[in-house]
Amino acid sequence: MTKTIMLFLILVPISYIISQTETSKKHSYVGVQVCAPCHKTEKQGLQLDIWQKSKHSQAYKTLQTEKANNIAKEKGCTTPAAETKACLKCHVSGYNIEAALLGEKFKMEDGVQCETCHGPGSDYKTLKIMKSREESVANGLIVHENHEEFCKTCHNPESPTFVEKDINEMWNQIKHPVPEKK
Ligand code: HEC
Ligand code: HEC
Ligand code: HEC
Ligand code: HEC
Repeated sequence: MTKTIMLFLILVPISYIISQTETSKKHSYVGVQVCAPCHKTEKQGLQLDIWQKSKHSQAYKTLQTEKANNIAKEKGCTTPAAETKACLKCHVSGYNIEAALLGEKFKMEDGVQCETCHGPGSDYKTLKIMKSREESVANGLIVHENHEEFCKTCHNPESPTFVEKDINEMWNQIKHPVPEKK
């Protein structure tokens, strides 16, 4: 009798822990190359091209410059900017993520990339799921109802080179909508 109770007391917490880890299964980062084939045509809205031409795609390379290293040094950092967490946090994705959650094609060098803003894509990247916004969101896609608030998570005075700019004007430089269907 007491044995049964003991077993119960042990098994219930264990099964609870297992079910918790299953529901919180983490999505992994696949990299911009995986989003590219479906988001590069004019019909889809040229998202790849717009991103490539934006500063966001260069955000890691920027950290590899002399200027960046000097800024890091002035801030008291002892490592080159491209290896400094306090810089990487706004300039790339993936630097603080366990390797198992980074796909083969994922490159930190791609800077502020699609998944930096839209969330890791391993589970929403299939056509079947992507066609439905609801299912995409259920599988990890992040859409931003209020993009202004979101932009300010990086575009704020914590950035050593911050200059206040009109967010709507900035949005006009990088927006990449899917064209209206006729
Ligand atoms: C197999 C093709 C395919 C791949 C791969 C793909 N997408 Fe999509 N995506 C689509 C389609 C189709 C839509 C729906 C577009 C429409 O509204 O007509 C879409 C829509 C979206 C939307 C808009 C969602 C909304 O409703 O506002 C975002 C954001 C997005 N994709 C991001 C990504 C990102 C980031 C990746 C890479 C991790 C990616 N997609 C990979 C096909 C794809
Ligand atoms: C994850 C951090 C992050 C987020 C979120 C972010 N940005 Fe940026 N953005 C950067 C970084 C870093 C640079 C500088 C890249 C460089 O110069 O190498 C930048 C540069 C820019 C630039 C060009 C430089 C400038 O100041 O005009 C524009 C425009 C811009 N971002 C618009 C936006 C908009 C609009 C949003 C919101 C939809 C946004 N960004 C969200 C990190 C971010
Ligand atoms: C809070 C987010 C954030 C952090 C932290 C951050 N940056 Fe940036 N960085 C940005 C954004 C956003 C931009 C583009 C607009 C701006 O200058 O604020 C940028 C732009 C830059 C630029 C290009 C600006 C120019 O005028 O050439 C350099 C260089 C740079 N950052 C270096 C660094 C270094 C070095 C660190 C670490 C000490 C760092 N950043 C930390 C967000 C950040
Ligand atoms: C700096 C952040 C940022 C980056 C980088 C970024 N996006 Fe977006 N994207 C947004 C925001 C903000 C919106 C508007 C609200 C939303 O749907 O999330 C948006 C909207 C979209 C939409 C839907 C447009 C519509 O008409 O509904 C698609 C598709 C999309 N992004 C795909 C991509 C792809 C593919 C990449 C990489 C090539 C990418 N995005 C890179 C922030 C970003």
